[in-house]
Amino acid sequence: DWTAAHIVDELVAQVQEQVGEGRVLLGISGGVDSSTLALLLARAVGERLTAVFIDHGLLRLGEREQVEHALRPLGVNLVTVDASEVFLSALAGVGDPEEKRKIIGREFIRAFEREARIHGPFDFLAQGTLYPDVIESAGGEGAANIKSHHNVGGLPADLQFKLVEPFRTLFKDEVREIALLLGLPEEIRTRHPFPGPGLAIRILGDITREKIDILQRVDDIFISALREFGLYDQAWQALAVLTPIQSVGVMGDERTYRHLVALRAVTSVDGMTAEWARLPYEFLDTVSLRIVNHVHEVSRVVYDITGKPPATIEWE
Ligand code: XMP
Repeated sequence: DWTAAHIVDELVAQVQEQVGEGRVLLGISGGVDSSTLALLLARAVGERLTAVFIDHGLLRLGEREQVEHALRPLGVNLVTVDASEVFLSALAGVGDPEEKRKIIGREFIRAFEREARIHGPFDFLAQGTLYPDVIESAGGEGAANIKSHHNVGGLPADLQFKLVEPFRTLFKDEVREIALLLGLPEEIRTRHPFPGPGLAIRILGDITREKIDILQRVDDIFISALREFGLYDQAWQALAVLTPIQSVGVMGDERTYRHLVALRAVTSVDGMTAEWARLPYEFLDTVSLRIVNHVHEVSRVVYDITGKPPATIEWE
């Protein structure tokens, strides 16, 4: 019968058998799947796992530290890399959403390959592929297919690995149960999905360090308040968007001309369709006040009341 404890023992044994004395490389995104996989692999192969977390400078406030504090005390040999300089210079002046995604994807692979060489050689590459990804890629052009193509098929000859995919037979809620058992802190275990390109697709238009800084502070106020009011788990995903629109405001007897930010929270099952979350007015009021009082670059806050379809969840 399926119990988390039983499946953990089984997965650990399977990994040990597959990997033997080999060394394993794992990319960490900060999400629940890769973090849980790191904990499982650490249990199975200890120091022969190297987990690499690339910080592209487009993460949420304190996210890198959060991952470090979650994984290192539990025995994960974690390498974190501040690659923000490289990513932000490659993105300078780029406003097109798809172009941003392409640049980030390309730089991500480069940064990961560099770390693989520095810390290698490795025999195995671990991936948090889940059962639904396996099904999807069996159809041909599924998401996992594209992902693994990038990660493995696209790598240079001196960086060819065998794949370790212990979660291939699991669903997301099963991974969450394993995460609980392995001691992954709640704030990561129950975290909303966060896109790979991070805040880059939540800053409309071109990206600067200043804009990232503004959006990180706005996002932090919104997400912290959701947790504080007990509303976080009711939303499937919640996010803030920094728009290039400047809007007039008043501060004392001065007119200001500052950023418009949008807040979005949705309910959903899988992100394919979504409804805007009916957050209480009092909550929205509190968040709006906190944002304009604490983030002086912002003069106006709006709440997105569009479903998907027709709108996507992200604004870019
Ligand atoms: P949309 O905006 O398409 O988002 O309704 C659906 C889900 O996908 C996430 N998303 C991405 N995730 N890279 C990712 O890893 C991307 O480029 C990307 N674009 C959207 C989005 O956050 C939501 O969970």
